[in-house]
Formats: sequence, C-alpha cells, structure tokens
Amino acid sequence: MWREYWNTSRKTRNRDRNLNQVSNETRNQDQNLNQVSNEMRILKYIKIDKESGPESEPGKKPLPSWPPKGEIQFINTNMRYSSCDPPVLRELTFNIEPAWKVGIVGRTGAGKSSLISALFRLANLEGSIMIDQVDTQTVGLNDLRSRISIIPQEPVLFSASLRDNLDPFNSYKDDSLWNALEEVELKEAVSTLEMPVNVGGNNFSSGQRQLVCLARAILRNNKILVLDEATANVDPQTDALIQSTIRRKFADCTVLTIAHRLNTIMDSDRVLVMDAGTMVEFGHPYLLLQNSEGYFYKMVEETGSSMAEQLHQIAKQAYTMSEPETAERESL
Ligand SMILES: Nc1ncnc2c1ncn2[C@@H]1O[C@H](COP(=O)(O)OP(=O)(O)OP(=O)(O)O)[C@@H](O)[C@H]1O
Ligand SMILES: [Mg+2]
Repeated sequence: MWREYWNTSRKTRNRDRNLNQVSNETRNQDQNLNQVSNEMRILKYIKIDKESGPESEPGKKPLPSWPPKGEIQFINTNMRYSSCDPPVLRELTFNIEPAWKVGIVGRTGAGKSSLISALFRLANLEGSIMIDQVDTQTVGLNDLRSRISIIPQEPVLFSASLRDNLDPFNSYKDDSLWNALEEVELKEAVSTLEMPVNVGGNNFSSGQRQLVCLARAILRNNKILVLDEATANVDPQTDALIQSTIRRKFADCTVLTIAHRLNTIMDSDRVLVMDAGTMVEFGHPYLLLQNSEGYFYKMVEETGSSMAEQLHQIAKQAYTMSEPETAERESL
C-alpha cells in the first residue's frame, strides 16, 4: 500500500514538476514575446514615416515650367498617415485632364482633404501620382509644394506687411501685386503694400483673408489650384467673387475644389465622389445625376427639393454647353 502511495505521490510530484517546467517555459515564451513586441514597436518608431527630402535629387529637378499643363493621374494610390494605421485612401485610380475643373464631394471623413494631402505628399503614399507625366514621388517636396497653389479653409496670413503676405520671396514687381489685388477687388481697401497684417490677419475680415490668399495664388500663376472648402466660412457675396475670379483667372488651369456648397461645383467638368477612402463615382455632374441610386444624386436630393431642382438645372446647362452635340442627340 505504501509502495502504491509512494508511486502515486512520485507520479504526482513528477507531474507537478513537469507542469512547473511548462509554466516556466510559458513565462519565458511570454518574456520573449514581450521582448519581440518591444523590439517591433521600437523598429516601428524608428521607421516612423519621415518626410522625404525637400530638394529634388540631382538630375530629377523638374523644369521651372513644370507642370506645363496640369494633368493629374492617380494610379492605384493608397495613403496612410502612419505605417501603423490602415490606409485612409485606397486604390485611387483616375485621370484629371489639363484645365479640368473638378469638384470633390463626400461625407465628412470620406477622405477629401486626404486626397489633397496626397497631392502635396503630406503622408505615406503607395502607388503613384503623376503630374504632367512626372511621378511626384521623384520630385523634392519644396519643388512639388511650390508648384501647386492651395487656398485652404482657414487662410494663412502672417504678421508682416501685406506685400510680404502676397509675395513672401520678394519675386514680383509692385505692379503685379497691385494687379492681383485688383483682380480680387481688394485694391480699394488697401492704401499701401506696406500695410501691416496683424497676427492671424485679424485686421482683415475672413472673406478678405481668403481674397488675399486668392491674390497670392493669382500671382504664383501655377497650373494647378486646390481649394479645400475655401468658401465655407465666407459671406455669399465674397463666395461669388471668389468663384467668378477663379473661373476667369484660372480658366486654363486645373482646379480641384472640395465643395462645401454643391452649387459651386455643379458646372464642373467632373465630380469625384469619395466614400470611406475610396472613389465611388467620377463623371460629369449631369451624367452622375442620371443614376438615381448614385451617391451624388442622393447628396443633391438631400439639399431639399427646390435646391435639388436648381442643381439639376445648372448641371444640365453646363453639360449642354460642354457637350452640345451629345446633349442634343440625347434630347431627341
Ligand atoms: N492627420 C491625420 N492623421 C491621422 N488620420 C487622419 C488625419 N487626417 C485625417 N485623418 C483620418 O483620415 C480619414 C479621412 O479624413 P479627411 O480629413 O480626409 O476627410 P474629409 O472627407 O476631408 O472630411 P471633412 O468633410 O470632415 O473635412 C478620417 O478617418 C480621418 O480621421
Ligand atoms: Mg476635409
């Protein structure tokens, strides 16, 4: 009996020892895993996406006239703000022809501003974005960003003279500065180019600040202009002035407009609809409106019946003017 007891208890002790060994091994494995995941985390932090160089590599500097036409091609473009996060733009492929006016729409968080960030290479890109056949990833950031004009939602003015705000690198003659101010109907409001601009431009109204940014864009004369809901915070009169000045002064430029008010983009050459980081529709607004199940159609419907009717009208008129023959054939 003792022998039996002894054997059993020896087995139990052996089993306990084995269990201890297993649990020690498990603990060691846990420690190893912790160590691995710490190392992975450090590696991730080391690899945290740095902006690529400000200057173009030798031999890859774009010509001073680049981009001469303003054609933009997204080719399987993905973008993430950090390599640990999922992409916020996914598989974007589309072509924007020179001088097209393109309205970008979509719900909040759809990726509209991110699309603009991709153009300025503000985050990690996969795939490519070509501007006039040059891959933007091969161009230094200073070159890339100085060749695209942007009017952001919150206009940026520095506390310096109006002259410095319009022409920070002192590249233009006074006449050109005055002309640009005249184009945006600010000439009368300004007595001298040395006029000081207060911190944040608070001696200008929000509409005037946008107009100063627009004058800056007119001066730079780039082939690509981007507006990110630029007129969301201005009065309707300034909105109308900005829209008409853009149509006139940037007629032969490619203009991408993230639209706050749909009426500003109903006569665009194309509307690009974003949803959850992907492009879900891209076409002439009038043609998109033919699909009553479409995203764009529904966005227009949500503005209410009388506004929706107006928007349909503007789109139809614009289509008839841009494609008179097709529009006539379709109406037969
Ligand atoms: N700087 C950033 N870092 C990390 N994630 C970001 C950053 N900016 C935007 N995001 C995320 O990317 C996604 C797309 O945002 P984005 O600002 O491009 O949308 P949007 O269409 O411009 O929206 P809105 O109409 O509100 O301006 C969202 O999930 C947002 O949270
Ligand atoms: Mg946005």
